[in-house]
Amino acid sequence: MNELRTVSAPPVPEAFVLRKKVLRLETLYDISRALAVLRDEDSFVEEVAARSVALLDAARGFAVTFEGSGSPGAISAVGFNTKPDAIALASDSFVLDLCRIVAPLQRENETVLGRRVRSAVGVPFVTRGHVVGALVLMDREARSGEPSTFDEEDGRFLASLAALAAPALEALRQLRALSFDIDRLREENRALKGTLGVDEVLVGDSLPMRRVKDLIARAASSRANVLIRGESGTGKELAAKLLHSGSPRRDAPFLALNCAAVPEPLLESELFGIEKGVATGVEARMGKLELANGGTVFLDEIADAPLAIQAKLLRVLQEREIERLGGRQRIPVDVRVLSATHADLAGEIQRKRFREDLYYRLRVVEIIMPALRDRREDIPRLAGHFLTRIAQRDGRRPLSLSRDAVAGLLGYPFPGNVRELENLLEGAAALVSGDVIESADLQFGVGTAKPQSAAAAAAHQLDLAAVERDHIQRVLDSVDGNKSHAARLLGINRRTLYRKNVS
Ligand SMILES: Nc1ncnc2c1ncn2[C@@H]1O[C@H](COP(=O)(O)OP(=O)(O)OP(=O)(O)O)[C@@H](O)[C@H]1O
Ligand SMILES: [Mg+2]
Repeated sequence: MNELRTVSAPPVPEAFVLRKKVLRLETLYDISRALAVLRDEDSFVEEVAARSVALLDAARGFAVTFEGSGSPGAISAVGFNTKPDAIALASDSFVLDLCRIVAPLQRENETVLGRRVRSAVGVPFVTRGHVVGALVLMDREARSGEPSTFDEEDGRFLASLAALAAPALEALRQLRALSFDIDRLREENRALKGTLGVDEVLVGDSLPMRRVKDLIARAASSRANVLIRGESGTGKELAAKLLHSGSPRRDAPFLALNCAAVPEPLLESELFGIEKGVATGVEARMGKLELANGGTVFLDEIADAPLAIQAKLLRVLQEREIERLGGRQRIPVDVRVLSATHADLAGEIQRKRFREDLYYRLRVVEIIMPALRDRREDIPRLAGHFLTRIAQRDGRRPLSLSRDAVAGLLGYPFPGNVRELENLLEGAAALVSGDVIESADLQFGVGTAKPQSAAAAAAHQLDLAAVERDHIQRVLDSVDGNKSHAARLLGINRRTLYRKNVS
């Protein structure tokens, strides 16, 4: 183009002005695209300085960013024999004027960086009212038909450029802060996991507990799916977490989903995700199986998963692929599946409520958490563990149990297992005035502290089941048989209600 100009007559002013405008717009477009993929502030200042110096035919120019404290961050200088000193640059009077005026500035016969310049133009980068950087161009190269000084239009162009550049710089900084936070959290997480061994988390030295801990330690390192069985409150979830944190997947996510607590349609999208537009206004969302890629998914109360979901789960385990709801694409996933239940799955299989093929896929390894009444010798240590934790949390003096209180705990059947023990001590700690918990401070639940024979215990459980059924029936009658309503009143899941009422 320049060669053309030397041989032909100068272009008509309108066409020239138009061409210049198009070139500037194109440059802005290019810059906006380049800024979107920048990774650090050094490339940011280089991009901005190089492009604007070239476009405005400047002899020299520089771009600088400022840290929160106002000190210079990244610098890029074009057309200088030696790179300007950062401090001199940040305290230059022209740059300081830009920061003060917070608008484009264009001057003639100015001193910039101790050097006399014929013409200078500059713009500050502003985000949320703060000047986070500046761009300065000096001395326009003389061109035929063009003034040799910068004009107002150049100032406007730089203002447009700054309007694009400043948010990009802000985004870069937020990204840096975020990745710093992520690194720190990962580090903390690793430290926490490293300091807590299986023994400190899962308290108990009884033979059944030692067996469980040994099994957890051995199963953790493999990628086998593990089914954890046990009564309510026996530590199934705790075991699942230990299996994950002891595995090579420990730095990837551990995501839990309670199959009894989530209604069926939601359960499906929670697990498999959903494609955009499945229903009006539905945005695409990843399911837990996809989110946990590389990590572990814990399916709690697996016996409550409806048959339709069981079929889909089986496919995931066989093919290691998922399909989002309403989606056609098959997405590969690498997840280890841990599941837990208090139900008798073999019975559920016989009753055709649980798929046998899925059962074998989930139960590559089986861990059975022992009931607390079958390992009473662990009660004193567990009690000590919880009391220490309560005292530390509440900042109070160490709590202990009287001899009578210990005897009371040892004689109680703990239908709610470790969770019940934990709650019982929580309640006692709240009531006790001193530091010693007496047996009178322990408020045992509906069960009885009286030692029971096995037959009496069984009879008692039968009674409880009958009482429960009667109660459920009364609630159902009161709402004209509306199961959803009754379940809400009873505070239980609809499927659970269904099972309890028919069996
Ligand atoms: N061996 C143990 N050592 C220390 N704490 C335990 C132990 N077992 C269970 N707990 C504690 O008891 C409570 C219940 O444990 P968890 O939630 O793992 O039981 P769960 O078997 O999943 O119960 P549910 O069937 O009701 O869901 C938790 O607060 C857990 O920290
Ligand atoms: Mg649980």
